[in-house]
Amino acid sequence: MDAATHGKWLADTRRFWDAGSEFEAKYRRICASTEFAATDDEAELRRLWEQETKEIVPVILKDIPIQREWTCLEIGCGVGRLLKPIAGRCKRAVGVDISERMVDWAGRYLEGVPNAEVQLNDGASLAGVAGASVDFVYSHLAFQHITLVEVVDAYLREIARVLRDGGYCRIQNWREAPRPVGQALRDLVRPVLGREKYRSPRYWEWSEGREVKFGGTTFHARAWKKRLRGCGLRPISTELGVGHDSWMWTTSVREAR
Ligand SMILES: C[S@@+](CC[C@H](N)C(=O)[O-])C[C@H]1O[C@@H](n2cnc3c(N)ncnc32)[C@H](O)[C@@H]1O
Repeated sequence: MDAATHGKWLADTRRFWDAGSEFEAKYRRICASTEFAATDDEAELRRLWEQETKEIVPVILKDIPIQREWTCLEIGCGVGRLLKPIAGRCKRAVGVDISERMVDWAGRYLEGVPNAEVQLNDGASLAGVAGASVDFVYSHLAFQHITLVEVVDAYLREIARVLRDGGYCRIQNWREAPRPVGQALRDLVRPVLGREKYRSPRYWEWSEGREVKFGGTTFHARAWKKRLRGCGLRPISTELGVGHDSWMWTTSVREAR
């Protein structure tokens, strides 16, 4: 992607994630499921927030032999709600996020957690992270909102760069919805008829002038694993539909250089 296009995509994406208030950031952006949307009651929202956080940490750490001396990195860390429990289990927890406001709020959210830090990034790179310096990279509720495949690929290359050999990567993203048989047959003839490739209704791609909302890219599990392998990340497990019907979790290991 050229620098000008990246700049426009970045500005549009930040506009969406730079929420108007901390309340909006936590309960209308980071946690935006129907349960959260159904109430304005702050005590109830806090309860849901704590509950969801508690439930998701073991899912993130599934297959991961996390060690006290590890450095862990979260892509799209928001206000740092997951960095906090992860920091309690490792030496250093680093988060990157595209949104300046999320990063500011994370500073406050992580007060009193000296081994956690958050960096503002350009939405596509891990420029502030040294090569082969990380033991574990994870991402939850962020890849599903990345609206360009080029950016997803840029991150996979960056993850492979910052992970040490044998380091772990666990990513949640959206899987392409299984296609009905009729659709699969129609897909076979689409290219012959000069039509565009079919994408599930969830798939949402940015282009200039399109306002960023909650949509993002989706991948068939097989195609996703191929992308990981192409970057030197060897998939060791995939779970479909864990946490949400559309979710896909993949754990991979950095191949030796
Ligand atoms: C739904 S929130 C999830 C936050 C956190 N992972 C959690 O589960 O609490 C998505 C976060 O990803 C960030 N984000 C979206 N696109 C990003 C990108 N391309 N690079 C880095 N961060 C991104 C947003 O600013 C937001 O803070």
